[in-house]
Amino acid sequence: MLYTCPNRPKCHVSRPLNAMPISISDPATLVFQLNGEAVSIPASCSPQTTLLDFLRARGLTGAKEGCAEGECGACTVVMVRDLDGRTVYRPVNSCLMFLPMAAGQEVYTVEALAASGSLHPVQQSMVDHGGSQCGYCTPGFVMSLFAEHYRPGRGDGACDPHSMGGNLCRCTGYRPIRDAALALTAAPPDAFSRRLDAPAPPITAIASAHFSRPATLDDCLAILARDPDARIVSGGTDLGVESNLLGRAFPHLVSVEAIPDLRIFHETAREIEIGAALTLSEIEAAWKTAPAAFTEWLDLFASPLIRNRATLGGNLATASPIGDGAPFLLALDAAVRIAGASGTRTVPLHEFFLDYRKTALARAEILVSIVIPKPVPPIVFYKVAKRRLDDISTIAAAFSITLGAASRVTAARLAYGGVAPVPLRCIQAEDILTGSTWNRRAVQQACAAIAATLRPISDHRGSAEYRLALAQSLLEKFFYECSEAAE
Ligand SMILES: Cc1cc2nc3c(=O)[nH]c(=O)nc-3n(C[C@H](O)[C@H](O)[C@H](O)COP(=O)(O)OP(=O)(O)OC[C@H]3O[C@@H](n4cnc5c(N)ncnc54)[C@H](O)[C@@H]3O)c2cc1C
Ligand code: FES
Ligand code: FES
Repeated sequence: MLYTCPNRPKCHVSRPLNAMPISISDPATLVFQLNGEAVSIPASCSPQTTLLDFLRARGLTGAKEGCAEGECGACTVVMVRDLDGRTVYRPVNSCLMFLPMAAGQEVYTVEALAASGSLHPVQQSMVDHGGSQCGYCTPGFVMSLFAEHYRPGRGDGACDPHSMGGNLCRCTGYRPIRDAALALTAAPPDAFSRRLDAPAPPITAIASAHFSRPATLDDCLAILARDPDARIVSGGTDLGVESNLLGRAFPHLVSVEAIPDLRIFHETAREIEIGAALTLSEIEAAWKTAPAAFTEWLDLFASPLIRNRATLGGNLATASPIGDGAPFLLALDAAVRIAGASGTRTVPLHEFFLDYRKTALARAEILVSIVIPKPVPPIVFYKVAKRRLDDISTIAAAFSITLGAASRVTAARLAYGGVAPVPLRCIQAEDILTGSTWNRRAVQQACAAIAATLRPISDHRGSAEYRLALAQSLLEKFFYECSEAAE
């Protein structure tokens, strides 16, 4: 069935979509602030309608559809969100947001920037530096740069060009766009600045047949227990792609964004507990004691736009063999807390992935948090991909080696993604290293164990042989880097 937006007789949208209406019990809950005005989400909209389609159907055609899978950033809009106690503008891919996720939220599109009749300083800087040719990507770049321009605490220096890391341009070239960012100074003391002085809107409950957003864990579990078709959605960066490109229908989406238990960040002397529904950007802001490898891991994970929506819970629950969260957390000996009708249980992460895309989550269970024991051991993360930034892994590896007296290995964790149907630790190689002296011979023996036990597949990202060679050479690289650091 083709989705035709109710707002316009001729909508550009022609992807097949599940056309079930939202049929909300209280239509008043489906209102959000769009460019400063309250707009209602029509009850006749499918919950799988994207925010992008809705905006364009209203005539706000600045945001474009380039890919519909979070890769190009042409659809970028900003949301007003709380980040570690401060109100910020967060740029997001509107092509990956299901429309009801915007309910109660505050969204700005590029149209709001020059509403007064003159270009916003960010737009003017793009003009002055020749940052746009065909213009297709430009509103997306402008919105990412807009959010960066108003980033609290940025001061009056240049904007960080990396803030536009989720935006692609096919014709201008990046240097003029970078120049536009570097030429910007302090954000003007205008209405957009003043907006950040007030709190961001809270994320509130929604209850309907096809889209629910419970505000407590108990309510969420009750919904999941009642409806066998219910599908949890967190940031939607995986499910949005499934909906847009694979045409998957989700009869009942249950958003976990409003559940406080899934949005905690606690650090004690014993452990760090990270709520499953915290976005990666929120974890970055909250985890002040994170090891350096976390920042490196984060920089290699998708783009700023994706990281503003993607959650760690979604990354583990989706159980992709090439997901980046699992190897990093496996090397840290993390565990996951899972809640269900019969209570809460804690499962070590190395027992969580059962088979290809299959986890220890039973029906109607929910991933609540990820627990990292302390002290956090030294760790490195390597990601091999076709591009350095904003790409999916061919293989990823996270290694943690703890040395005792006389360079003897007291603990070894060698975790991989992309070498098997599930992310895993190579226990055989870990066993060889543990108790050995950390030297080239031990590493060679561990590499032999890796070759004997890992069974990667061949696909368009790399052959099985290539992946196996990488799995070994990354360990060697780690050893040589350790040796160099010790010299
Ligand atoms: C352009 C692009 C680039 C990407 N790059 C990377 C990358 O570099 N590295 C990488 O690892 N991934 C990458 N991804 C994949 C994706 O962003 C991550 O897997 C992300 O962490 C998923 O989180 P989410 O909150 O968006 O999940 P969602 O899409 O909301 O959910 C994903 C799955 O998890 C389930 N789920 C979500 N939360 C819970 C929960 N609390 N309990 C139980 N089940 C739950 C959902 O039902 C669904 O099956 C990329 C995706 C895109 C679109
Ligand atoms: S349309 Fe390409 S990221 Fe949204
Ligand atoms: S200006 Fe044409 S794609 Fe960027």
